[in-house]
Amino acid sequence: MITETRRYEARLEAGDPVLLVDRKRRSYLLWLREGGSYDLRGGRVAHDAVIGQPEGATVETSRGERLLALRPTLADYVLSMPRGAQVVYPKDLALIVMLADIYPGARVAEAGTGSGALTMALLRAVGPSGRVFSYDIREEFQRTAARNIARYLGEVATLEMRLHDVSTGIPDAPVDRVVLDLPEPWRVAAAAAAALRPGGILLAYVPTTVQVHQVASALTASADFGLVETVEALVRPWHVEGQSVRPAHRMVAHTGFLVTARRVVPPPRPDRPAPAPAAG
Ligand SMILES: C[S@@+](CC[C@H](N)C(=O)[O-])C[C@H]1O[C@@H](n2cnc3c(N)ncnc32)[C@H](O)[C@@H]1O
Repeated sequence: MITETRRYEARLEAGDPVLLVDRKRRSYLLWLREGGSYDLRGGRVAHDAVIGQPEGATVETSRGERLLALRPTLADYVLSMPRGAQVVYPKDLALIVMLADIYPGARVAEAGTGSGALTMALLRAVGPSGRVFSYDIREEFQRTAARNIARYLGEVATLEMRLHDVSTGIPDAPVDRVVLDLPEPWRVAAAAAAALRPGGILLAYVPTTVQVHQVASALTASADFGLVETVEALVRPWHVEGQSVRPAHRMVAHTGFLVTARRVVPPPRPDRPAPAPAAG
């Protein structure tokens, strides 16, 4: 099984995605095709002028504007791909992979699929021997996500997408990780507890403090979860040019909070006798 069947040659080819970056760092994402052309602020670019160039080459528009031609990274791609639902931003995708400890070979349940940005980050992290089960209740979002994923990753054998409400259960249990980006993750706590192996991790991505409070309280109150933690990632870009070395004037100030918890084995209750040891 291969997660990413798309293999790139050293030179840009017809069918490849390419990011054209102008001198003001504005970027344009397009798919190369023979005979094609692309109009942007600095003129027109003939696809044939880009096809055959090495990645990182400079190409010229019809008006002499120079553009850098590179294949898009996953971060470039998720910010420019068609969206059904709001995507998870790259800064949060990176942190989710580490905080939820998404490892090669892991079985990961994810909901909702949305536009597929988080799904792609998870697929990359679980690698060819892992598995991602992605659920959503809206068919049109999953269709958009499937197209987005196929365009960037090619044919993916490690992904199962299902139209399913995860608050009613996680059908592909047992799983090592449950990653949630949906409005009411506290309604999924019981289903996640039933699906996760002991020691597994639940991560919920939520945009507001009210949701943080609700999901963190539900997980803390549950005997099936421990080590509940909440963080947010602030990434401040810097302007570094000559003597002007300072934080950039603008940044993405808020996206969401990440709430994590470990699946634990509930301790025996003092009011109940411990189970008798197995016979034999
Ligand atoms: C913000 S979007 C997810 C975006 C996605 N993480 C991405 O990066 O592209 C939230 C999604 O959760 C789905 N959703 C809401 N409640 C759900 C439920 N109970 N079970 C499954 N999916 C659900 C919505 O239909 C929507 O597509």
